[in-house]
Amino acid sequence: MNDTFLRACRGEQTDYTPVWFMRQAGRYLPEYQAIRGKVSFLELCKNPELCTEVTLQPVDIFGFDAAILFSDILIPMEAMGLKLEFHENRGPVFPDPVRTEAAVKQLIVPEPEETVPFVLETIRLLRRALKVPLIGFSGAPFTLATYLIEGGSSKVFLETKRMIYQEPTLYHALLEKITRCTSLYLQAQARAGAQVLQIFDSWAGVLTPYDFERFALPYVQAIIADLRQMTDVPIIYFANNGATLLESCKTSGADVLGLDWRLPLNKAARLAGNHILQGNLDPIALFLPKEELEKRIALILAEGKEAKGHIFNLGHGILPQTPPEQVKIAVEAVHQLSQQA
Ligand code: CP3
Repeated sequence: MNDTFLRACRGEQTDYTPVWFMRQAGRYLPEYQAIRGKVSFLELCKNPELCTEVTLQPVDIFGFDAAILFSDILIPMEAMGLKLEFHENRGPVFPDPVRTEAAVKQLIVPEPEETVPFVLETIRLLRRALKVPLIGFSGAPFTLATYLIEGGSSKVFLETKRMIYQEPTLYHALLEKITRCTSLYLQAQARAGAQVLQIFDSWAGVLTPYDFERFALPYVQAIIADLRQMTDVPIIYFANNGATLLESCKTSGADVLGLDWRLPLNKAARLAGNHILQGNLDPIALFLPKEELEKRIALILAEGKEAKGHIFNLGHGILPQTPPEQVKIAVEAVHQLSQQA
């Protein structure tokens, strides 16, 4: 068992800097495409054997130090009673957006073992197959709410912010339900065997720090507080585009804070205090020539030394256009350069 990543999450010394990539299982891999050619994305997410296979692919091919459960942050939202579709070029769509009191009342807080048994079964299968730690995950309530309120992806988040500003009571009722659902969902993942949990707040960065502290962070804090009652698995909180939110994020309760590429890790370390940092290579830096890519990686490793601990990752998910051989170069560079140092 390679427990380097787990040790780094706990703030222990490691022989080298562990590395994994957000969205490391996915469309940039021909091996993933081969499976996706046969089933839809939602069918894939609900098939534990196939989920296990695509989770293992990047770990086997590139030697990542952690695996991340293959699923999607919106799977438990479907379990709340919503219709969810994935459209080929548009991404996720909720055909019936949640914008009224009646719509919020209709949502159920699902029992994970009953409604998403395939996720928990995937975790159990993976724990038997893996030689590196398994990361479970969820979306953060604010990020999940944007999909429900907008009916899918968004650029300006007008409907979400309108609800926050004009109907804060309705917004709070919706977020409370999503929070309860997410809390149970992550607890079930920990019980099934997830060894680390990451909470993705992909859209946190569209909020002012003032609104983030009132309308996003408290729900994350509640989930983490619930988790701390029942498990000691390390928790990673990733607030994307969150350089201006970092000081607030110190109070999330997470052990590790994920960072995008907009702030160097050494500066982040000064703001983040006693936290381990995860990040923060620009995903498009994977398109650099080998030597330049290695230089960027060396720089991030040096900056990361100023933090309490460092887990190497991208600053956001890997892009589908990324050449797999560049991923290989990056993982090897992290391992080698961090050992020398
Ligand atoms: O390898 C891994 O990281 C595990 C799998 C994973 C997926 N989605 C698979 C996926 C994880 C951790 C996610 C999280 C996720 N899903 C987030 C948070 C991370 C982030 O990127 O900010 C968000 C916002 C979503 C919602 C989502 N799912 C969108 C917006 C899309 C469409 C855009 C896109 O990237 O395709 C998805 C679809 C999705 N989720 C795919 C995969 C592999 C592509 C589906 C396909 O095969 O066609």
